[in-house]
This record gives sequence, structure tokens and C-alpha cells, in this order.
Amino acid sequence: MTEFQLTINGRDYDARLGERLSDVISRHGVSFPHHCLSGYCEGCRVQLNSGSVNDHGTNLRRRIIPCQSTIAGNADISFDPSPKPSNLRGHIERIDRIGEVVKQLTVTFEKPISWIPGQYFQLESRGTTAANVYPCFSLGGRTEFSSLCFIIEKQANPTMFAEIQQDKLRNGKACRIKGPYGTSFLRREEERLVCIAGPTGFASFWAIAVSATFGLANREKILVLDESYNTPSFLEAVNWMQSHKLDFRFVDLAGQSEPQFQQNLLQTLPDLNEFDVIHASGNADFMQNIKQATDSQKPCLHLLPLGEKIENLCLNTLVAHEY
Ligand code: FES
Repeated sequence: MTEFQLTINGRDYDARLGERLSDVISRHGVSFPHHCLSGYCEGCRVQLNSGSVNDHGTNLRRRIIPCQSTIAGNADISFDPSPKPSNLRGHIERIDRIGEVVKQLTVTFEKPISWIPGQYFQLESRGTTAANVYPCFSLGGRTEFSSLCFIIEKQANPTMFAEIQQDKLRNGKACRIKGPYGTSFLRREEERLVCIAGPTGFASFWAIAVSATFGLANREKILVLDESYNTPSFLEAVNWMQSHKLDFRFVDLAGQSEPQFQQNLLQTLPDLNEFDVIHASGNADFMQNIKQATDSQKPCLHLLPLGEKIENLCLNTLVAHEY
């Protein structure tokens, strides 16, 4: 069998023609961020620095999905370090009703939790369905030590939302989280940061927006929210963005045809270019529209998918690829 070399973060490892990159990485015992291993969660993207791989259509500005890409020759990939996933017990400290279709869940743990905005956890509790959720800050931008805040949108997490309504998830109840997962997280870069929230994508948008406001104060930022967030439920968040003098806009994106989506997005970002870094969160259709709408500007694109379809696929495949 033809032998090639896969260079991972500067170290060389042998690889076989046609072998999945994720299999090469695992075979050599290299720890790398991943979750579903099925191409759905976007949780394993790595940078393709050079060389020859068959990316099976996953290449996005030289960032490929290794669980879908195979060896076609020598190649060099790299990925940024991120917190190692762990399994933590905690309890639900409080559940706040934010609006008709939005709840805020605060979970407290005995130990501090490491995560980077843009990563997600799997949350489960006895008698409920496990779900992937993005931690963020409370809608007023507050942070608390040893606790995670999750904004649960009915549209994004209908099952979890219903379980809260039915009191299956309630104050004081024990729960467990696994994670963090995902590589589409906020990095310390200088390029302009564009953060876009589509339907179901508010939590990760908010985590990145708040964190960048405090931690990357000098970095230019543009925050774009789908018009559907222009409601009283998110007024506290809007007030917070205004009080911190953030550049944010509401744009009508959800449910638009692809050309209209592109027109609406680029009207609000007319100078979008290849040096910009975009973090876009939303459901699968929204992700697809973002990819197409920004194709010719070629920004660095980080996708943060959410929605029950994606969650279920990740959770089902997780059984076969448990850590
Ligand atoms: S897409 Fe590769 S681990 Fe989910």
C-alpha cells in the first residue's frame, strides 16, 4: 500500500493512500478536536497548509473536514489547541423565562470549566434527551464563575424547550455535560471580526460577541443579527450592545431565497473581503446560504451549526465514537 506522510502540527506521521485523515490522526494517538466523525458537526475542521488530500467537497478557504477527507499524497495540516473534552456533573441553578420562545438555563459545577466561545457541550439529565448546546453569557453580558449559561431557543432546541416547560428540566436537578467540542471558536487575531446570527444561532453569536468585546477590545467588530431577533426577548442584549457602543445591525436573512439572502447580507457588509473573519451560526440552510453568499469575497469562515437535525446526527454517531 502506498505510504505517504501526513504532517500534523509540525510532526510527520505515516499515512496510506485513501485513508481518512481522522483515522490517521487517531491511529498515531494524536489528540484532535472532534465530535460526530460523520461530517455534520463542523467540530473537527483543520487547516490544510499544503499537500494533497481528497477533501470530498469540504474545503472552505483551505480548512477541511478530516473525518471526510482522505489521503491523496503527502500533506500538512494544523489545528489550534483547545480545551480537552471532559465529563462534568453539575446541577441546574436557575431557569429564566426570557420570552415566549426563549429560556435561559444556568448550570453550576463544582469545578471551573474551560471552554472557548464558539464551542459547544452535550448536556444531559436523567429522563431527558441529550442535546448539543452552546454556552454563552447571560443576556445582560454577565459572567459567573463555575457556571455555564445556555440560551435555549424553542426553534433551535424544541425537545429541550418542551422538557423545561414540562418541568423535566428544573431548578436543582442534577445534570451532566460533555465537551467542549468544536473548532469554530474565537481566536486571538487582528482581522476584522464579523459575527452573524441566523435562526437558532443566537447563543454562539452572543458568546463570541460578549467575549470579543471584553477580551479583544481593539479588534474591529461587526455584529449582524437576523431580523427575527429584533423582538422584546432580546431587548436586554440589544441594550447591552448599545451601551458598549458595538456596531450591530439587524438584517432580513431568514427564509430568503439564495440571491436575496446574498443581496441583503452584502448590502450591509459592502466591503467584505478575504481578510475578514466570519463566525456564522444558525441552522443547516442558513450555513449553506452563508457559504454561497460569501463565496467570491473569500473571508475566513467559521460555521457554527445548530438545530435538532444536526444535534441528532451528532448524538447518534457519538455512540459509535464515544471518547
Ligand atoms: S464533522 Fe468531523 S467530527 Fe463532526
